[in-house]
Amino acid sequence: MPDFQAWTVGHQQRFEEVLRHLLPQADIAPQRLHAAMRYSALDGGKRVRPLLAFAAGELAGAPLERVNFAAAAVELIHAYSLVHDDMPCMDDDVLRRGKPTCHVEYDEATALLVGDALQSLAFQLLSEYTLSSDPTRQLKMVKLLATASGSRGMAGGQAFDLASVGKRLDLSELEFMHIHKTGALIRAAILLGAYCGDALGQAQLDRLDHYGKCIGLAFQVVDDVLDAEADTATLGKTAGKDADNDKPTYVTLLGVGAARKMADELHQEALSSLSEFGARARRLRELADFIVMRKY
Ligand code: IPE
Ligand code: IPE
Ligand code: MG
Ligand code: MG
Ligand code: MG
Repeated sequence: MPDFQAWTVGHQQRFEEVLRHLLPQADIAPQRLHAAMRYSALDGGKRVRPLLAFAAGELAGAPLERVNFAAAAVELIHAYSLVHDDMPCMDDDVLRRGKPTCHVEYDEATALLVGDALQSLAFQLLSEYTLSSDPTRQLKMVKLLATASGSRGMAGGQAFDLASVGKRLDLSELEFMHIHKTGALIRAAILLGAYCGDALGQAQLDRLDHYGKCIGLAFQVVDDVLDAEADTATLGKTAGKDADNDKPTYVTLLGVGAARKMADELHQEALSSLSEFGARARRLRELADFIVMRKY
């Protein structure tokens, strides 16, 4: 059995090829839009959401060919959310994944369309390919990603984030924002990976989802800490941006020490939800460790 590092790199490299193949080629019209989509989705990122889908797929005995499409759909939504998040009307950032942001490299209108088109492609993948032998379950998967991305998921969390600039949120408001803007897609990645495999019982799905809820929130708590503590070269995005933009974060509310402690508690709670799965959940455990201990 490969160690975590080898497992991760193996999937990241394989997944890069999957995305290269699924994204429209840059010589197909409209060339500039297709080039910008590829620029924004390829060659970068930790691919945490796909890795979570692959790990949950392993747990559920899912065929890799199916999980590939689910993982790609979530990653395309994530890539779109980053392109829009960086635009001047949102966080106004110039660096992403170590490269100029999409609207800087291309232009704002193109960045807007890249987001639109990546989102549509995500749903095209979920409906074009067979992800489950049970069509009802596959339809449920489409709905799951739609809900996780929409106004009651990621987009809603982003709206809350923008409305919170300059305000002091309390802990439950901040948790609401983070669970939506970041947690929702992470949770969806895990459930979609699992849904590609053998049907799990509702109690098992609930435990996986609780793992996802905890690790999704921990992910954004750590993102807030890294924004305050890490440097731009390591992050591949502008450090200190939350303070510049006057965003309420776990760091502004609790300070770095208590924010880290909270991430550790969520980490432990995430691991506890996996206990009944035994060795089948090994990769999900390792990913939880990675999410909390990462440096970028
Ligand atoms: C950054 O996500 C934006 C958040 C939701 C916190 P990632 O840290 O997963 O970004 P990439 O995909 O690795 O670039
Ligand atoms: C972004 O949160 C969440 C989404 C893109 C949905 P941030 O604004 O903190 O992400 P970064 O720090 O720019 O990656
Ligand atoms: Mg943002
Ligand atoms: Mg941002
Ligand atoms: Mg951030």
